[in-house]
Amino acid sequence: MRRTGTTSHGTRRRPAASRRRPAALLALALGAALTVALPPPASAAARVDNPYAGATPYVNPDWSARAAAEPGGGAIADEPSFVWMDRIAAIEGTGDAKGLREHLDTALEQGADLFQVVVYDLPGRDCAALASNGELGPTEIDRYRNEYIDPIADILADPAYAGLRIVTLIEPDSLPNLVTNAGGTDGSTEACATMKANGNYEKGVGYALHTLGAIPNVYNYVDAAHHGWLGWDSNFVPAAQEFKKAATTEGATVSDVHGFIVNTANYSALKEPHFKVTDAVNGTTVRQSKWVDWNYYVDELSFAQALRTELVRQGFAQDIGMLIDTARNGWGGSARPTSAGPLTGVDAYVDGGRVDRRIHAGNWCNQSGAGIGERPTAAPEPGIDAYVWAKPPGESDGNSRPIDNDEGKGFDRMCDPTYTGNGRNGYNLSGALPDSPLAGHWFSAQFQELVRNAYPPLGGGSA
Ligand code: BGC
Repeated sequence: MRRTGTTSHGTRRRPAASRRRPAALLALALGAALTVALPPPASAAARVDNPYAGATPYVNPDWSARAAAEPGGGAIADEPSFVWMDRIAAIEGTGDAKGLREHLDTALEQGADLFQVVVYDLPGRDCAALASNGELGPTEIDRYRNEYIDPIADILADPAYAGLRIVTLIEPDSLPNLVTNAGGTDGSTEACATMKANGNYEKGVGYALHTLGAIPNVYNYVDAAHHGWLGWDSNFVPAAQEFKKAATTEGATVSDVHGFIVNTANYSALKEPHFKVTDAVNGTTVRQSKWVDWNYYVDELSFAQALRTELVRQGFAQDIGMLIDTARNGWGGSARPTSAGPLTGVDAYVDGGRVDRRIHAGNWCNQSGAGIGERPTAAPEPGIDAYVWAKPPGESDGNSRPIDNDEGKGFDRMCDPTYTGNGRNGYNLSGALPDSPLAGHWFSAQFQELVRNAYPPLGGGSA
């Protein structure tokens, strides 16, 4: 997701287990020795290297119906997206939303063999922003374990679901916030400093990885922010180290991590086709442009692949895979540049050519002008397990005005289109669309714009 906006330059924004499964190997060896054909328990199937390869992912019918009801939405309504468990009540389901079990049962009815779920309810959630503050206070790690992770694990471990590859997306924004927003940077907040000091993000993530990683058909992917958050040398390696620390906490090991996901609920372009980070204009590197601002990456694909290499260097498995959320990073439509910018200076060159049309790369809430990105695709590039839709298009990032609610959500001015406080110099508009509802609630106007600005464009005259 997001959060990068206001940190200071420099510090700024900013298989599991064994894919070799000893038990399964042993069973095979025994079976051979005894020449007894023991049917492997359905739940003991070895994890595959890339769960998306050859898979049929679950299409959430609730999202699908909302998408199909919008003009042009039919063109994407059959795409798979993640189901968010964003509060304890979501596990059992609420009036208008299916619970976890009902989603899984529906997946089986659909004939799907892959299910994608976001685990998102840490104590003190969303510490650098307000729009997705959660229900658990900073110290409520026991409730997180007992009332949230354990019930989810009980359901996912049900043998009825053993034939599904279950992809979990672990706790968006949490560990990246510990890296860039928990002290010593302009973007730091008290709330993040508290979560760093009490260790409850790391404990929660470790507990989730360990508990869910014990289920043989679960594939854990940890959230790793995006290039506009962790692409600086001051935070890139520290982030990989932070991920390793959390993944070796509370009984978890690096084997509980199948991979990582970048760009969750964010808008960073997958590929910037008209400029590279190594380009220079009249001898000045594009890294000096206002937009790039000394980042080492200009898009998500290059960031994801480089981060993967660093994570392996830090001790994660050689065969970890990356996911990229491409739900809303398409940046098509008439504002999309078709060639490089003029060579009159680095800013003109970068701003004229970049397809990411945000006002500032740290803007994250309901971005004006964005479009649907690549459709979910398995194994699209080396090191990438899949392009996925983690944030269901049409669901708001946050409310543009204060709204009373019982979800724990606050009002973040990054969702207010009149706010100008973002960025190092604090004068960039937020770029947010007006009149948005609470995070996670349906935002019809945004959905329609995303469809119109899809890139690659949607076929079938959807606009
Ligand atoms: C919200 C969640 C929601 C998710 C998916 C998050 O920003 O806080 O409540 O489920 O987005 O839309």
